[in-house]
Amino acid sequence: MFFDYADSGAWTEGTYKANEADFAAIKLRQRVLVDMTNRSLQSTMIGETVSMPVALAPTGLTGMQHADGEILAAQAAEAFGVPFTLSTMSICSIEDVAAHTTKPFWFQLYVMKDRTFVASLISRAKAAGCSALVLTLDLQILGQRHKDIRNGLSAPPKFTPKHVWQVATRPFWAWEMTQTKRHSFGNIVGHAKGVGDLSSLSSWTAEQFDPRLSWSDVAWIKEQWGGKLILKGIMDPEDARRAADTGADAIIVSNHGGRQLDGAPSSISVLPEIVQAVGDSIEVHLDGGIRSGQDVMKALCLGAKGTYIGRPFLYGLGAYGKRGVTMALDIIRKELDITMALCGKRDIREAGPDLLHHRLPVVEAEPARPSQ
Ligand SMILES: Cc1cc2nc3c(=O)[nH]c(=O)nc-3n(C[C@H](O)[C@H](O)[C@H](O)COP(=O)(O)O)c2cc1C
Repeated sequence: MFFDYADSGAWTEGTYKANEADFAAIKLRQRVLVDMTNRSLQSTMIGETVSMPVALAPTGLTGMQHADGEILAAQAAEAFGVPFTLSTMSICSIEDVAAHTTKPFWFQLYVMKDRTFVASLISRAKAAGCSALVLTLDLQILGQRHKDIRNGLSAPPKFTPKHVWQVATRPFWAWEMTQTKRHSFGNIVGHAKGVGDLSSLSSWTAEQFDPRLSWSDVAWIKEQWGGKLILKGIMDPEDARRAADTGADAIIVSNHGGRQLDGAPSSISVLPEIVQAVGDSIEVHLDGGIRSGQDVMKALCLGAKGTYIGRPFLYGLGAYGKRGVTMALDIIRKELDITMALCGKRDIREAGPDLLHHRLPVVEAEPARPSQ
């Protein structure tokens, strides 16, 4: 059930699949006989130094992929030197993650109708020393994900025979879950009014996400927060220009990993027009479909200053916990490093459109006509 939650998209999953497939269509320019020594992947995202421009995307229910998942992922990211973004819908709370890490992480905010609760989430993120607020704009109503409906997804799992069977056939997962107290939405239960247990939480979530969220709310949130602000979920040049006008520090070109509007284009395919629309007025980041260091390279070449991975780190976490997240990051780092070198560059900050190969479209040869 939790694997399906990660490994799926909305409705036909067309956008989810396109996110990955469209990266494959982009070709790199192979260069030779350039000095490849002393390479560096170090860069910056919103002014913070990163060991490579790849952050961990906010993902809900991460503590259900592996016991204490958010804490483990945050620790792996910290050791690796890349940002970790904690979701509002995390299992481990903001305070809990802060208590188990030594460097600031980023906090992702969903906006609820109860603005007192939103203000309190922002204050808690500030108190925990979070260095950026990532405001998600594309999930005021939930995209329909068929697998979750079929599975009856809930945290913790319900005790129907199907769920009991799923737990019983994952003994390692189940054993580790018995070793932690973190089984519920840590940022919400016990903090939001009227949410003391899980039975009231599902109805609370459906009722509480605010469908009226607008650009004026962004100004209010920016003022409440007072720090670095990243707007997540931009897929349109017009929205990108409006986002830049808010004075935010960055936008994330994202379709929520294909989990919201199925039928939207892949995020990588709209990146060039968005970069062109905003110019240097705001930093542009991208997520969706990044599965390798090569994909990171392609996004950077098309104008992204930073990227995020969602599922790749979740797969690692589910398989091997903290070590799995480090492995996922390490695989991407190696791929990015070798790709950069074979494209003839030594510094990732030099990635640009000149590293992409603009192939002529392949014209099918007409079959020869039989001679009369
Ligand atoms: C299991 C899962 C849960 C997610 N939960 C959130 C969330 O709570 N908040 C949010 O802003 N985005 C959420 N996202 C979207 C990610 O932040 C990100 O946009 C997406 O995963 C990027 O695509 P990728 O998984 O192909 O890398 C979630 C994605 C997944 C796969």
